[in-house]
Amino acid sequence: MNCWTLLLLSLVFISTSHARNLTEVLSSTAGLSRLNLLLSFYPGLLDSFASSETTLFAPSDEALDSFVLSQGGPSNVSMETLGNLLAYHTVPTRLTTPSLTGTGGRIIDTTLEAPEFSNLGGKANVVYASAFGSIGQENEQGPLMLYSGVGGVANVTSADVEFDGGVMHVVDQVFNFPRPCSQTVQLAGLNTLMDAFQRVNMWDTVNTTPNFTCFAPSDAAFQAAGLDVQSLSTDRITNLLKYHLIEGEVGYSTALEDGKQYQTILGVPVTIHKRDGKLFVNNVTVNVGNIVMSNGVAHVLDGVGVLF
Ligand SMILES: *[C@@H]1O[C@H](CO)[C@@H](O)[C@H](O)[C@H]1NC(C)=O
Ligand SMILES: *[C@@H]1O[C@H](CO)[C@@H](O)[C@H](O)[C@H]1NC(C)=O
Ligand SMILES: *[C@@H]1O[C@H](CO)[C@@H](O)[C@H](O)[C@H]1NC(C)=O
Ligand SMILES: *[C@@H]1O[C@H](CO)[C@@H](O)[C@H](O)[C@H]1NC(C)=O
Ligand SMILES: *[C@@H]1O[C@H](CO)[C@@H](O)[C@H](O)[C@H]1NC(C)=O
Repeated sequence: MNCWTLLLLSLVFISTSHARNLTEVLSSTAGLSRLNLLLSFYPGLLDSFASSETTLFAPSDEALDSFVLSQGGPSNVSMETLGNLLAYHTVPTRLTTPSLTGTGGRIIDTTLEAPEFSNLGGKANVVYASAFGSIGQENEQGPLMLYSGVGGVANVTSADVEFDGGVMHVVDQVFNFPRPCSQTVQLAGLNTLMDAFQRVNMWDTVNTTPNFTCFAPSDAAFQAAGLDVQSLSTDRITNLLKYHLIEGEVGYSTALEDGKQYQTILGVPVTIHKRDGKLFVNNVTVNVGNIVMSNGVAHVLDGVGVLF
């Protein structure tokens, strides 16, 4: 090998190993111009991307457009909201798809710390990544999806795009902001549960207690159990609700262990099972799992726990 060959080889090595910075990558990728523009208003954030290992979930142009529309148009979206939105899509560690697609899924700490969206004792809020459905228990691996606030299910449409200082995954929907329990229940269309909380005036507890878990029976579940919350006594409703709530522990599906009991605020524990590709609470199936709330997590149940 002569010195020219060495020189050429080293040039090739340098040019291919030098990743481009985020701005350059966004500029040269179709469908990410809105995000590129948005980030240009946050030079500090761009600098932090360049200087530390980061993962960016990059909403596509369509995703950002529908977000803005959902807010009632551009004039309804403040800089503060946009900053929080970016924070929710930014992860202060480097995560490539192999670390996101394992069985059971993975809870990811983002940088969303605004108290309005994160009431977890000072911790930033999370998104849930899973290629095995919303509870991470499906038998067959499917596409990688990101679960956030109520209704937020984003597909990764392009993964592991490298940039200087990190890695980017393009998503087709923005992550929905985590909401307190009352808004989560309302937006999830859980009307009977909503009525039940209303009747016993428990909103304060469920909305403001940090590190909260809510097992949320669907309307059909109340109906199937023959429970009419308008005719039950308030004591009965209070006990019923307390039996579906855990405080001091955020029961993401990744944290809940098969066969283990968890103390509810009623003082009576529930038992968790993971089997047949599903997650069970006292043998009641979780239909939709890992709905991120500002103060914890909600799982929608197919039934009402066991009652007395
Ligand atoms: C990214 O690279 C471009 C072109 O090399 C440069 O103009 C820009 O300042 C860089 N941005 C950052 C945040 O380093
Ligand atoms: C947009 O802002 C207006 C005025 O503040 C408000 O009345 C309206 O409800 C907002 N739209 C949405 C979708 O939030
Ligand atoms: C909530 O959980 C976080 C993370 O586990 C912990 O650091 C914090 O102390 C907890 N806060 C409360 C009030 O339980
Ligand atoms: C994500 O992909 C699923 C199919 O795997 C599809 O039903 C859903 O509409 C997609 N989400 C969006 C926001 O396009
Ligand atoms: C749950 O189901 C298992 C198996 O069918 C049964 O042994 C157990 O008693 C059930 N537990 C409850 C709390 O219903």
